[in-house]
Amino acid sequence: MKSALIHEFGSPDVLVAGEATLRTPQPEEVVVSVEAASVNPLDVKIIAGYMQPIFPVTFPYAPGTDFSGVIESVGERVRHLKAGDRVVGRTTPSHGGAFAQQLVIAAAELCVIPASMGFEQAAALPTAYGTAAQALFDVGKLQPGQRVLIHAGAGGVGSMAIQLAQLAGCHVIATASAKNIELVKSLGADEVIDYRSQTLEGVRDIDLVLDTLGGETLEESWQVLRPGGHISTLVEFNIQGRDGCTGEFVFFASAVPFLPEAVRQFSAGRLQIIIDSSFTLSDTRAALEKVATAHARGKVLIRPGT
Ligand SMILES: NC(=O)c1ccc[n+]([C@@H]2O[C@H](COP(=O)([O-])OP(=O)(O)OC[C@H]3O[C@@H](n4cnc5c(N)ncnc54)[C@H](OP(=O)(O)O)[C@@H]3O)[C@@H](O)[C@H]2O)c1
Repeated sequence: MKSALIHEFGSPDVLVAGEATLRTPQPEEVVVSVEAASVNPLDVKIIAGYMQPIFPVTFPYAPGTDFSGVIESVGERVRHLKAGDRVVGRTTPSHGGAFAQQLVIAAAELCVIPASMGFEQAAALPTAYGTAAQALFDVGKLQPGQRVLIHAGAGGVGSMAIQLAQLAGCHVIATASAKNIELVKSLGADEVIDYRSQTLEGVRDIDLVLDTLGGETLEESWQVLRPGGHISTLVEFNIQGRDGCTGEFVFFASAVPFLPEAVRQFSAGRLQIIIDSSFTLSDTRAALEKVATAHARGKVLIRPGT
């Protein structure tokens, strides 16, 4: 079967399209025919070799974690899924394999999607939705009525976080560049800061900041918190609280706890999924380059069947 592969670390240029052998499934595993996969900044970082201490990979490595597709076959111990089921899931980053025509994964990692949900929409969900929910509610303990600042509101995680915070009854302030202000408002942001022409001066009494950027953005974010406020950061491993405020790194490890609710919210018409662009498997490199710019709008998709 065809798969994107790397044989060395580097920029997305190191990606090649190749033939890979599907490993033999264990009794609790299934074979999925991949219909769509979504690209995350994590894929770019793994390909660059930056994630070796956390998610070590060996060569040849087939990248990609978030995917949707159709089950081709199930192992003898799989009870709740069958061939033909439409599913969404996320592979372990060290295993990868989503930017390919087929993959093998434990049945327990999958969530069934309804016929009304497109494969592209489903593939966009695992990391973006799961990270947003974990950062806001599990780590950030966000409560109705609170004020939340979401950085990079037009990104994969940010676009989900705005909607989840709005659905939870919070006052949502998001950062975005001018071209994305209307999009971010349409997702539910009450206020938008154009980060290219405005600072955070004037933003006050924030209960929770979702930091997707680190560096100066994180530094500036401490000033907007109310006493006792909190920062959930996706990028600063060594965050320390300061001046009575707390900070915590969010480590998104599994989509399993989040996918059923994500699918329910989408099916109920409460979740918009923003697709930046869609690429064929042979154009995986271009898809990764798009994400590497850090200016994709929502999610970048790969369609292995096209
Ligand atoms: N710790 C974890 O477990 C975990 C999990 C998921 C993600 N992450 C990390 O979180 C980060 C965000 O992930 P993502 O998937 O949301 O990324 P993404 O989709 O690639 O983010 C792209 C968005 O960032 C916006 N952006 C870029 N620079 C900005 C700035 N200075 N201020 C405000 N917005 C800016 C862009 O908007 P404009 O075009 O308008 O500039 C674009 O829409 C990545 O570094 C990722 O690796 C970590």
